[in-house]
Amino acid sequence: MSIKTKELHSVNRWSDLMVMLNNHDPYTYEHSCRVAQLLKDFALYLHYPVQGAEVLYQIGYLHDLGKLLVPIDVLRKKGRLNNKEWECVKGHPIEGRRIAESHGVTDLFILTAIEQHHENLDGTGYPYSVSDREIYTFSRMLRIVDSYDAMVSKRQYSNSMLIAHAIEELEQWKRSWYDPFLTDRFIELIRLKEIDID
Ligand SMILES: [Fe+2]
Repeated sequence: MSIKTKELHSVNRWSDLMVMLNNHDPYTYEHSCRVAQLLKDFALYLHYPVQGAEVLYQIGYLHDLGKLLVPIDVLRKKGRLNNKEWECVKGHPIEGRRIAESHGVTDLFILTAIEQHHENLDGTGYPYSVSDREIYTFSRMLRIVDSYDAMVSKRQYSNSMLIAHAIEELEQWKRSWYDPFLTDRFIELIRLKEIDID
C-alpha cells in the first residue's frame, strides 16, 4: 500500500480529502473550487432549483479527487506523458469515484459525474469511452465547465483573450465532445458574465 493510499484510509470525511488535495496539488484544488462555483452558476442559469444547483457545486468541488493518486510530477509534467503516466491520469475519474464513495458520498448523480467527467459525446473520451445517451446531463455540464476553466486559467495571456479562445474551442468541439445545447447555454452565460465584468 502506497503512503498516499494509507493516508487516504486514515481520513474519514470527504471534506478532509479536499484538504489533502490542496496539500498534494494546490492548482487542482483551486481549479476544483472555481469549477464548483461556475457549475452552480450554470445550473442556476438553466433554472435548476437551488437544491439541484448545490449538488452541481459539490460535483465541481469533488470531481478531480482521483488526482490524489496521480504523482505530482506527472500532474505538473509539461511535455508528453509516457504510456504508464497516461494510464495513471486516465484512471483518475474511476479513482475519484471510488475515493468519494469510500468517504461517505452516496449520491449517484455526484458519483457518476465524477466518473464521467472526461467522456466525450462521440465516445473518444476516457475512462470508459461511453458515448451520447450513456453520458448523464450533470457529467455533460461538468465536461464543459471543467474544460473552460482549464483553458482560461493559463495566466500568461490576458483574460479577454483567454475567454475568446476558450469560446472558440468550445464551439469547435461541440457536438463531437460537448453537448451542443448545453454548450450554447454555457457560452451565453460566459458572455453575460463578461458584460458584468466590463
Ligand atoms: Fe479531471
